Amino acid sequence: MTKNRLELFPLTAQIEETSTGEHLTIGGNDLSDLAEHYGTPTYLYDAATLDAAAVSYQQALLDFYPGKTGITYAGKAFLCLALAQWTQRHNLYVDCTGLGELKIATTAGVPRDNILLHGVNKSRKVLSTGMTQAGTIVVDNLTELHQLVELAKQNESPIPNIWLRFRPGESVETHSHIQTGHEDSKFGMSGKDIVEAAHVCRTNKLPFNGLHFHLGSQYHDLDPLGYTLDRTLDLAQELQMEAGWTLCPGGGWGVAYHEDDLPHPPIEDYVRYVAEKIIDGSKGREIPLPRLQLEPGRSIVAQAGIALYRVGNVKHTANRRWLLLDGGMADNPRYALYQARYTAIPVENPLRPATGPAWLAGPYCESGDVLIENLPLPEVKPGELIVVPVSGAYHLSMANNYNGATRPAVLWLENGEASLIRARETPDDLIRQDKSLPNTKTAISSVMFHKYHGVGNDYIVVNETDLRQPLTPMQAKRICDRNYGIGSDGILLDISKSSEIEFAVRIYNPDGSEAEKSGNGLRIFSQYLWDTERVNREQFTIWTAGGEVRAQVHESGKRITVMMGQASFDNQNEKIEVNDQELVYSAVDLGNPHCVILRDEVSKEECQQLGPLIENAPRFPNRTNVQFMKILDGGNIQVEIWERGAGYTLASGSSSCAAAAVAHQLGLCDADITVHMPGGELEIEIQEDFTIMMTGSVSKVWQGYISEEVFSDV
Ligand code: LLP
Repeated sequence: MTKNRLELFPLTAQIEETSTGEHLTIGGNDLSDLAEHYGTPTYLYDAATLDAAAVSYQQALLDFYPGKTGITYAGKAFLCLALAQWTQRHNLYVDCTGLGELKIATTAGVPRDNILLHGVNKSRKVLSTGMTQAGTIVVDNLTELHQLVELAKQNESPIPNIWLRFRPGESVETHSHIQTGHEDSKFGMSGKDIVEAAHVCRTNKLPFNGLHFHLGSQYHDLDPLGYTLDRTLDLAQELQMEAGWTLCPGGGWGVAYHEDDLPHPPIEDYVRYVAEKIIDGSKGREIPLPRLQLEPGRSIVAQAGIALYRVGNVKHTANRRWLLLDGGMADNPRYALYQARYTAIPVENPLRPATGPAWLAGPYCESGDVLIENLPLPEVKPGELIVVPVSGAYHLSMANNYNGATRPAVLWLENGEASLIRARETPDDLIRQDKSLPNTKTAISSVMFHKYHGVGNDYIVVNETDLRQPLTPMQAKRICDRNYGIGSDGILLDISKSSEIEFAVRIYNPDGSEAEKSGNGLRIFSQYLWDTERVNREQFTIWTAGGEVRAQVHESGKRITVMMGQASFDNQNEKIEVNDQELVYSAVDLGNPHCVILRDEVSKEECQQLGPLIENAPRFPNRTNVQFMKILDGGNIQVEIWERGAGYTLASGSSSCAAAAVAHQLGLCDADITVHMPGGELEIEIQEDFTIMMTGSVSKVWQGYISEEVFSDV
């Protein structure tokens, strides 16, 4: 029996003789050694088994389907950076549900064409992010579709492929929680709605080219699938799908979890059935053979993953032998949710004969925290390792922190080596997002910060509600100090909560003084609001000490525009004498003073030499910012900047605006100007009344914690 159990393990599983008896190894790694090194509970993924699953699907499609094909990996089964990166070895699409999975996939470098967005109630933010990050969006309902139509009008990048999700009214045999195709399912659209949806797509010229359904998960009966494929082809005929259209019959093909599930029908059987149904069905209806896209999750990752636990306690009750493990429903809630039936073996001497049934349970405070019931096992002592096969799907993706459990470490096994692809969560992680009660002293020892870079400037964003006392100038200076603190050109203190306006910021200079406005600072603050999901619309207003500023996010945060207010000109083309040279300048005010000097060539040396002299010239009693500007052409200028109080700087938002305003005012440039500075580029748009909009990118540099010490005793 135990021999049979081994078939459920990753393909590389072996029992090897060691000095301390027989040990289970996976991918050439002794599980006892890994447990010793990484602790338990730990999950392990075997790359060879993952590869084999992907290849089985690909080969079966090649063997049985004459048309174009593709495979989407359903990320909900398990997604992390490494797994998302692995999908690209096989050029799989990655199905993402929501911003979190999109983040993982995009960070992993999955190309846009391979990102597919799913979800039954996608928020506006998810839709707008999908518009720029996904190659395909599967539309669940009409409300969502109407929002997409609206977003498509504003979208600057190509519109993703649109597939419609069909609710066929058909059930597969599986646990009711994971049936999705029946008439009363919350997923997808029924016949009438989907016809309307197709119409909406076409009248609005969306690239609608696919039909999708998903009947459920962990099923093996093919009849409902066949019936549904027929209904979907009927629908395709009714909707007159054009050549090149895609049919995606979802995922759901089951796997064996327990020795009683063996032998298990192979992936090939499933793919062949789907392929033949579609080939015959399309021929019969004389509709173009679709591109066939499968969407498996579990059958790709389940067998590749195993869960490694240590037995803490063996307890005998009236009728049971309990093996109490160090993991349970927090890392694998599938028994609690679906009464899923698993099996297990000890790592050391796994082939020992069973002596009787055992109940395997976790350390958590409820009787439902069981992993396996009534499983024949040998005698197992406290301290022994137990391994549960077929743990790769829907364990970690549904793991939770019940009882303050920390999520397990995850290892990747490949070519005889084990590498950590996700570190074990720590108790500190559990309180990271927590805040104390108002006016309560706690031992929370740090304050979260986000650091961003935006064209020449770096800023640190801190939320006022995370501080126990108001930020003092000395503290601000310490944080900005590149020798002592984190280092930045300033601090953006998010004071939204204490302001009348939804979003508000106070801006600190690196010397601790407060600034009224900073163009790059405000773009960074906007990006922070967007990234932390404080704002879920593209346009909003931010209060600053220098007035209210309107901001707009483009392409789900790729670029940010802020309205910098109106430029007013003090004079134009006047002359000023510095260092025995006569320079032609224009003085312009943008909430702060600027002196823009037109030159045939600009250089850092000249800027550093003449900048301080002009800054302090008698003509500017309040001192001024200085820009040396060269006109490149009607839409481009090059600028070197001397900042009032700060000196030579590589880039500046308001200086860019001032220079561009002068270039336009003098008739040397159009209203849309790219400002080239040593530290980066900004796009400036000048409206008729000289209201100035500034657009550029912002990148996140760091997110971390400032020690409480920085805030004490100053
Ligand atoms: N496509 C769609 C639209 C889905 O909703 C799913 C799974 C899949 C594909 C992939 O299905 P698979 O091939 O993995 O069966 N937590 C449950 C499973 C939930 C499945 C949700 N949707 C479990 O642990 O069994």
